[in-house]
Amino acid sequence: KRRIGVMTSGGDAPGMNGAVRAVVRTSIHMGCEAYAIYEGYDGLVQGGDMIKQMLWDDVRGFLSRGGTLIGTARCMAFMERPGRLKAAKNMILNGIDALVICGGDGSLTGADLFRDEWPGLLEELVSNGELKADDTQPYQHLNIVGLVGSIDNDMSGTDATIGCYSSLERICHAVDDVFDTAASHQRGFVIEVMGRHCGWLALMASIATGADFVFIPEKPPRAGWEDQMCGIVRTHRQRGKRRTIIIIAEGAHDVNLTKITPNQVKDLLTQRLRLDTRVTILGHTQRGGQACFYDRWLSTLQGVEAVNAVLEATPETVTPVITIRENKIERSDLMEAVRLTKSVSKAIEQKDFDKAMELRDAE
Ligand code: F6P
Repeated sequence: KRRIGVMTSGGDAPGMNGAVRAVVRTSIHMGCEAYAIYEGYDGLVQGGDMIKQMLWDDVRGFLSRGGTLIGTARCMAFMERPGRLKAAKNMILNGIDALVICGGDGSLTGADLFRDEWPGLLEELVSNGELKADDTQPYQHLNIVGLVGSIDNDMSGTDATIGCYSSLERICHAVDDVFDTAASHQRGFVIEVMGRHCGWLALMASIATGADFVFIPEKPPRAGWEDQMCGIVRTHRQRGKRRTIIIIAEGAHDVNLTKITPNQVKDLLTQRLRLDTRVTILGHTQRGGQACFYDRWLSTLQGVEAVNAVLEATPETVTPVITIRENKIERSDLMEAVRLTKSVSKAIEQKDFDKAMELRDAE
């Protein structure tokens, strides 16, 4: 029976468990065996009981649960070739030659490299006597399929990453809660949200909660933004708003790439507008908690598609990433998606913000 491994890697995201469940059950349904790799790439490098066969019932109750029940890690060892060599050996020892990985762009890039190196890794394992040539013979091609799991929604080529809508939901609830206390005291609140270098969570949350001002990395405020922001807040107050909510993406900066901090914004509101202002950093509450219906649905359909992609792959198939575009689950070229994702960060580094916005819009 063909053995398919499934792993979650990088920052956890709600919906990752739904993806694991779908991969396990679809693999079994298609006549294969499913193996969970625990603790991300760490588990693959370590081997032993970090790699376990999963039966149908082992994923019961996974669909709604937050985090990742098979664990994750930001693994250093896998970044180095000796780590990947150990990982390849553990794959062969377990008879696994197909891996479905649910993670962010860093995790998926590592997977693609692993696939590229695969024949060389096997040769090295045989030549240094760790494996016999006959043992590696049936596993000459490694199949990798990526699923994008991240709350940040920062991957090009897909409309949504697994986890982003659950996180957005939590952020909106948190802002609504702050709203009540802010309005009671007529206070200002500066709320920092996650997203790494991507402003999607901040922007969507500010639209969905009617925030007064938002800072995102892709479109930093121009020189003089302090006057602009205070002017807007003053106007809103004059119109009768009893609270001020400013949302700031954790990766926000100005046009010179100088970080804009929540405290800096708070001080402005306090000193210029005499607003009693507090800072709230939502932190990891944004990443935990149950998966919303969309992430349960998305992870299930994408998990099924990932197994189909494994079973239909030929040695010539480029490493696919399962995406969703205009509500259709699709297979895209993983490295092309990674290249486009990186070009947004590069445009920002080069202070070409129009290009960064253009690239994000093109997504
Ligand atoms: O990529 C997901 C994410 O939650 C980012 O939004 C955030 O910048 C980062 O991970 C935090 O990572 P850690 O949990 O390792 O501190």
